[in-house]
Amino acid sequence: MKLLKGQPVSEKIQADIKAEIASWPQKGLALPHLSVILVGKDPASEVYVGHKARMCEALGFSSEVIRLDEKISQNELLAKIDDLNKNSKVDGILVQLPLPKHIHERTALEKIAPGKDVDCLTKTNIGSMVVGDAIVKPCTPAGIVEILKYYDIKIAGKKVAVIGRSQIVGTPLVHLLTQENATVTLFHSKSENLMQEIKTFDIVCVAIGKSEYFKQADFKQGAIVIDVGIHRAEGHKLTGDVVKAVENDTWLSAQSPVPGGVGVTTIAMLMQNTLQACKARRQS
Ligand code: GUN
Repeated sequence: MKLLKGQPVSEKIQADIKAEIASWPQKGLALPHLSVILVGKDPASEVYVGHKARMCEALGFSSEVIRLDEKISQNELLAKIDDLNKNSKVDGILVQLPLPKHIHERTALEKIAPGKDVDCLTKTNIGSMVVGDAIVKPCTPAGIVEILKYYDIKIAGKKVAVIGRSQIVGTPLVHLLTQENATVTLFHSKSENLMQEIKTFDIVCVAIGKSEYFKQADFKQGAIVIDVGIHRAEGHKLTGDVVKAVENDTWLSAQSPVPGGVGVTTIAMLMQNTLQACKARRQS
């Protein structure tokens, strides 16, 4: 089976971004700026935010991580987001999720000006994505489409299953794959006969958030499996929603590894979105 590694896909996206911004400094244009808000000290969020800042640095983007106390009030957080909305130097704003329980997530996300919402989580940007008119696309789903394209996997006309209906991954992924002309079915926790059903799909994107829930033999022989899960097991081992892909396994034709698959391209798509948001704002 082929391992659908995210690194070469990410490198290609980064190379395209670098080529696009190479002439900006000579023209006196500032490179894009991303502001990330991190509330509290969730260890996984710390790791993700660190990866985002490092990729900004590698591309020459400027970035800042705004660390806010876990006990910050909702109004204080909204005021901070509004400061960034009004700051002309800021092209992209990302509020790292999850937020502490006392903060209403939707209210916080809606405070982000759509033109700076580089995660594509505001209702306005989700709507633009659904009608096929997006400046930014949700990072993880867009990265999955990039992986499939990079590895020349035909999407059009294929039966594609998306397992998991989260607002960040499963639900928007259905739209992006439909726009690529796939025949998409969304499965979720209330779906009946999941294990029988998924055996009939050519491509399966698994985003259910349960460590090693599926094994390779659960899918159709020759299927392509995209694993969106990431779980830190005892002893710091990272696992996906699917049992680890092994290159000499012959049941599936391809599987994305965890770590080193979808997560890597997600961050590259965030950079792509930050660039697009920056360009759109300067044109408006
Ligand atoms: N936490 C885990 N994934 C994400 C993501 O894609 N965006 C944000 N803002 N927070 C996350």
